[in-house]
Amino acid sequence: MSSTPEPGSGIAHFGSRLVPESEKGRLVRGVFESVADRYDLMNDLMSGGLHRLWKSSLIDSLAPRPGMRLIDVAGGTGDIAFRFLKASAGRGHVTVVDINEAMLDVGRRRLARAPLPGEIEWLCADAEALPVADRRFDAYSIAFGIRNVTHRARALAEARRVLGYGGQFLCLEFCPRLALPFFDRLYERYSERIIPTLGRWVAGDADSYVYLVESIRRFPPPEAFAAEIAGAGFGRVGYRLLSGGVCAIHSAWKI
Ligand SMILES: C[S@@+](CC[C@H](N)C(=O)[O-])C[C@H]1O[C@@H](n2cnc3c(N)ncnc32)[C@H](O)[C@@H]1O
Repeated sequence: MSSTPEPGSGIAHFGSRLVPESEKGRLVRGVFESVADRYDLMNDLMSGGLHRLWKSSLIDSLAPRPGMRLIDVAGGTGDIAFRFLKASAGRGHVTVVDINEAMLDVGRRRLARAPLPGEIEWLCADAEALPVADRRFDAYSIAFGIRNVTHRARALAEARRVLGYGGQFLCLEFCPRLALPFFDRLYERYSERIIPTLGRWVAGDADSYVYLVESIRRFPPPEAFAAEIAGAGFGRVGYRLLSGGVCAIHSAWKI
């Protein structure tokens, strides 16, 4: 695996490859454009349905209340947004932001098939430059998205900017390693062998799923990512591990 590029070097990781920073956004867009139509099915197959429980845990941490305004960044096909609307008893407002129109389109079609009460807005934009006013939201969520952005610090600064004081930041993300070495080796084999094969069979694209696995392995461990969140100026930063440390929910508050 290649070493970590120096900040300011103009180089970024795309999975295990080093690419010019200016290229990473386009490459990531390509990944999700390619798999958008099969994305939801692949999530169920790869995680054995567990991603549904992880996303529900994020909503529990959010504790939606009537009238709450959520921005769900890297919101993809709408899983977090739809759970939030259901939990807000018809009085939630959610803005789904994603860099990829193809993923948002799948979300819009899902909502047209199974309408939900509450307000939803779809925005095609980059997590690093959100086209929304300062302090507009009560909560910010990002599920399995932060590891795809080119400059995490910029995305975290944007999260802080769009939250009102007292607003909650929540991030659901995979952990790069499991704590127990035996399970970590099993998990590694599963990730490297089974996931790309599933990607080829189901989504017709093994490479995108190789990227997915590599991007997980390159993401910082939860304690290091928590330090980045604190470094962005958030308070009461913490995280809890899910499913034996397969992923973590990070929580922090704008103070
Ligand atoms: C793994 S999917 C997660 C989708 C959804 N949150 C979920 O949990 O099912 C990652 C999403 O991040 C989006 N994404 C990647 N880079 C982004 C960026 N810089 N800004 C906004 N969205 C981005 C992708 O288009 C994709 O829809």
